[in-house]
Amino acid sequence: MAAFKKKTIRDVDVRGRRILVRVDFNVPLKNGKVEDDTRIQAALPTIQYLVREGAAVILCSHLGRPKGQRLPELSLRPVAERLSRLSGIPVTFVEDCIGPEIKEAARKMGFSEVLLLENTRFHPEETKNDPNFAAELASLAEIYVNDAFGAAHRAHASSEGVAHYLPAVAGFLMEKELTFLGRALSDLEHPFVAILGGAKVSDKIGVVKSLLDRADTLLMGGGMANTFLAAQGLNMGESLVEEDAIEVASEILKQAGDNLVLPIDATIADAFSDDAHQQIVPITAVPDGWRILDIGPETVEKFSGFLKEARLVVWNGPMGVFEFDSFAKGTHAIAQAIADSDAVSIIGGGDSAAAISKTGLVDQIDHISTGGGASLEFLEGKELPGVAVLEDK
Ligand code: 3PG
Repeated sequence: MAAFKKKTIRDVDVRGRRILVRVDFNVPLKNGKVEDDTRIQAALPTIQYLVREGAAVILCSHLGRPKGQRLPELSLRPVAERLSRLSGIPVTFVEDCIGPEIKEAARKMGFSEVLLLENTRFHPEETKNDPNFAAELASLAEIYVNDAFGAAHRAHASSEGVAHYLPAVAGFLMEKELTFLGRALSDLEHPFVAILGGAKVSDKIGVVKSLLDRADTLLMGGGMANTFLAAQGLNMGESLVEEDAIEVASEILKQAGDNLVLPIDATIADAFSDDAHQQIVPITAVPDGWRILDIGPETVEKFSGFLKEARLVVWNGPMGVFEFDSFAKGTHAIAQAIADSDAVSIIGGGDSAAAISKTGLVDQIDHISTGGGASLEFLEGKELPGVAVLEDK
């Protein structure tokens, strides 16, 4: 496995220092409460280490997309409560992330204490990566730690700009994410089987190409497979097909040859709903008026055969409309096949992470990424700005 090339919090002396830690606390909220705290839990090792080592820990994050407005429903206050409960460490919340009062709070806080700043995106300068705003954030601390893998594809002030003003190192979550996902780009473990799904091809063209270069086999399901099947000239009925992407899908099919494996059967429905009539048909026999909402059992068997032989598996995107229980079978069966295989298993965030937690198989997966867009851009082989800016070892 390739060694991690960036400095981490282990490489700097943090005792008695003020540390600004960028975390990704962009978590779903419902009625003012945190609905899913996976990302908060994932940041605990870094926070607890810094507290143990006697640093003053100043946390910052974005939440949602408030577009520079101060929106009470996107306040990080509920996250402070949950973080405190999960970590057993009192967390002081402050209602802004820059300004004289925040500077004073950061200056007065004790070592081994934790401060959480308000949503950085309440300031329009955050997403513009404004250098003055970044310098203001930096002025709160002596060292910057980026542990926000999920936001590392954004060149924003708190994820990139600030690193130009302070010594900048990675946190443990960032290190873990890059080490695991890096295995998919390292060309060291074979057979390497990648599985892609989800609705849209256009979002994932770069990932498809990158994974076809590296993986021995790319299994494809979900809505995106329909566009490839349509490119082969098959009738897709009412299924989701991206007409604009058919041409690029044909080119990819030509280049990929046998390395790209598409569904051979499907569960189809007569409407887009959980209680629609359904039937299983060969992929060559989708009738007009019906739509594909899941992969079929023969496809599950075929895909599982590849997964059984694999040494490394990377999965991103569900195999069907798994939000509907009636069309979640394919996604669940693939999750089970990954869990059962001896391969190192890596799940690339977003919907596939949600699908895995629904199945109760989380403990059988080696790594579930906290990044959605970030893990896709990383797998595309793109350099993430929030990582590029960290100090090399
Ligand atoms: C995510 O949820 O993928 C990250 O927190 C980034 O959020 P963004 O897409 O709003 O920048």
